[in-house]
Amino acid sequence: MDHFTYEHGSLHCERTAAEAIADAVGSPCYVYSKATLVEHHRRIAEAFAAVQPLICYSVKSCGNLSVCRTLVECGAGMDVVSGGELYRARAAGCSPEGIVYAGVGKRDDEIAAALDAGIFLLNVESEAEFENIARIAREKNATCRCALRINPDVDPKTHRFTTTGTKETKFGVDIDRARAFFRAYGHDKHARLVGLHLHIGSPVYTTDPYQQAVRKALALREELLAEGFEVTVLDVGGGFAADYETGRSPSAAEYARAIVPILEPAVRAGLKIVLEPGRSIVANAGILLTRVQYVKRSGDKTFAICDAGMNALLRPSHYDAFHFIWPTHPDAAFVPQTRTKEPTMQGLVQMDVVGPLCETGDYLALDRAMPPVERGDLLAVFTAGAYGMSMASRYNSSPLPAEVLVDGERFTVVRRRETYEDLVAHER
Ligand code: LLP
Repeated sequence: MDHFTYEHGSLHCERTAAEAIADAVGSPCYVYSKATLVEHHRRIAEAFAAVQPLICYSVKSCGNLSVCRTLVECGAGMDVVSGGELYRARAAGCSPEGIVYAGVGKRDDEIAAALDAGIFLLNVESEAEFENIARIAREKNATCRCALRINPDVDPKTHRFTTTGTKETKFGVDIDRARAFFRAYGHDKHARLVGLHLHIGSPVYTTDPYQQAVRKALALREELLAEGFEVTVLDVGGGFAADYETGRSPSAAEYARAIVPILEPAVRAGLKIVLEPGRSIVANAGILLTRVQYVKRSGDKTFAICDAGMNALLRPSHYDAFHFIWPTHPDAAFVPQTRTKEPTMQGLVQMDVVGPLCETGDYLALDRAMPPVERGDLLAVFTAGAYGMSMASRYNSSPLPAEVLVDGERFTVVRRRETYEDLVAHER
């Protein structure tokens, strides 16, 4: 699943000791494994090879330029949702023909930047947005390709904050309105409506929501083709899960086995498939290193107070998300064989792993069974590569963590830790 392993009792990322990174770079810091990134991208590419998809890595999951550049080198395109992400994708060397752009609230300047760059596909989320894109394209005397993001009303059975393909969410256009949409806009000369887009939610731990959504999209496509519309692209979106616990998520091959047979006939007839995976590529490729500042006992509770909290990793407090957390140098009896919510070793103690911020909601884990820890211990928060640094904040004037990319026994600081001067630089 990844290249974070305990060697002689000490956590390594590939062949580099986690402690050596923290000693050199300080904590908190994000550490990414290049080999894991490359491997997860390869697994998706191989699993879906029969439909030759354009794999557009979802920049929002981890936008670090070196991470993006690594994936561009693997042949990935990029899925972006803002002018900032478009800028990042281009700065990472992604060719415009590999870029797809979704988002419910694209501003005029962002649309203009996408048109000027000549990206592959703008995924359109409303009638009003389409009219605006068409106007801007007309004024520039440019053309662009658009896909209609349809809301298939399929329940991905995930957290309500990240459910996006059900009727009550703000995303896409109801599938029942899609034909009317194509009739109204399908003949525009500047904004050419050539595809359909889906993104049902994230993480989606089962394959049948994809099957339902893709079947609905293909049935709609048949109706549109029968009416004479050109629908040459189907963007299936992202949402494949990652292993927050060992063996928890379906593999890329399992998602592909469920989805590819449904897509294949249309692909043989010329349909281009786009995938937008983020989490399934980068989540297991990253950890967050944080140092225990104090251990505090209050009544029957134990708190491990760390130098990273919700500022560095928001997911536990925002989504109630589970991240396996473990010392980088546990005693021999505590070297973990699997990452699980309920480790069964003798001698573990229950504790809350909390951050330094001034909120009770500032935690990384509550009531967690962990080896005893003491001041100065380094902890690894696993599966933190996706939506970790990309959702980090400077709350409580916390400088953003450093990011490090490991390649074998070499590591490179790919984002330096912010300084106090960085915190105030835009206010001077
Ligand atoms: N495509 C679109 C249109 C999306 O909105 C997303 C994610 C993706 C692709 C990539 O999904 P992925 O393959 O990474 O699951 N912050 C949340 C996740 C929000 C996902 C938002 N959209 C979290 O930490 O769980």
